[in-house]
Amino acid sequence: MSTKTPWWIRVPVLFFLIFGLMEYFIDSGDKLAIIEYPITQFFLLLVLMILIAIELILASIENIMFQTLTEEGKERYLEAKGKKFEWTWAKNLMEKLTRSRSIEKEGEIVLDHNYDGIRELDNVLPPWWTYLFYATIVFSIVYLVRFHVIGEYDQTSEYEQEVAAAQLAIEEYKRTAKDLVDANTVEFLSDDSDLAAGEKIFQANCVACHMADGGGGIGPNLADKYWILGGGIKNIFTTISEGGRDGKGMIAWKQTLKPVEMAQVASYVMTMEGNTPANPKEAEGEIWVDPNAPEDTNGTESETEEAAPEEMEQSGDSTNVAMN
Ligand code: HEC
Repeated sequence: MSTKTPWWIRVPVLFFLIFGLMEYFIDSGDKLAIIEYPITQFFLLLVLMILIAIELILASIENIMFQTLTEEGKERYLEAKGKKFEWTWAKNLMEKLTRSRSIEKEGEIVLDHNYDGIRELDNVLPPWWTYLFYATIVFSIVYLVRFHVIGEYDQTSEYEQEVAAAQLAIEEYKRTAKDLVDANTVEFLSDDSDLAAGEKIFQANCVACHMADGGGGIGPNLADKYWILGGGIKNIFTTISEGGRDGKGMIAWKQTLKPVEMAQVASYVMTMEGNTPANPKEAEGEIWVDPNAPEDTNGTESETEEAAPEEMEQSGDSTNVAMN
């Protein structure tokens, strides 16, 4: 056998290599694949047994070939094999990095002064130490040029970059994890798909009391600007999720609807404002003013007033379509 690595290195290395590859290629989420999919434990056991079998086969082939050798050949072979396995390269490397003298050779470097029998060796600085020292010098020059001469970036901009990246990650996460919304994080969903889903939920669960156009019946008018329990996506979401006042008939929908569904139907309810229902129920509650609205100056107020009829037309169109 020409290979020099002994079996007790070969087998574990191959085994853990296959183990690592398996973990790398099997997508098992946070957990290790051997825990997530117990069948892989059998696979690894099989791999281990095959590796051992290969070693056994190799050993017996070696044995058979050995028997075919001449006496002289056998001797030479045994001699070659008898050489102890050594990490020669590691030994050499260690030697180069420390340049230490063995005790037998210390005599060559002993200095000739002698303090009450205490003598000193003239050892060289260990090369690993000096190389490290040179490396720090190179590092400091690069550092000096990058941050004090060129001024590539400073801690503040580094921090801001990281915050921006984290913000992006949060946005991304929110988009994939819609079901995580609650009354604090819910936002108006303007995607057509979300509004269509909201409309479907509304048709299935809410029309009995609120009417398809939101005009109201048992439940209050959802198409006007007046809200009993507060308007705006967060209040509407809370009302849908937790229900209305006791005894009024609006149940807590969190039992039946998923958070994302409540966000969708709440968004859909938002779009109803401005509908012209066929039989509108008289207004109840108060006009809702969004406390987070940009500014409450006269200018913006007239703007919102201008915006309202437009919205009305639009939502009017969509209900017409829905009712057709
Ligand atoms: C059994 C009848 C009934 C059903 C079904 C119903 N509601 Fe209600 N809803 C009410 C009543 C009654 C109120 C008034 C609650 C109050 O006064 O506290 C109300 C209030 C509301 C309010 C608050 C209105 C305001 O002025 O503050 C919203 C929003 C609302 N419902 C949405 C929905 C949605 C969305 C659904 C379907 C998932 C739904 N409701 C299903 C009866 C119902």
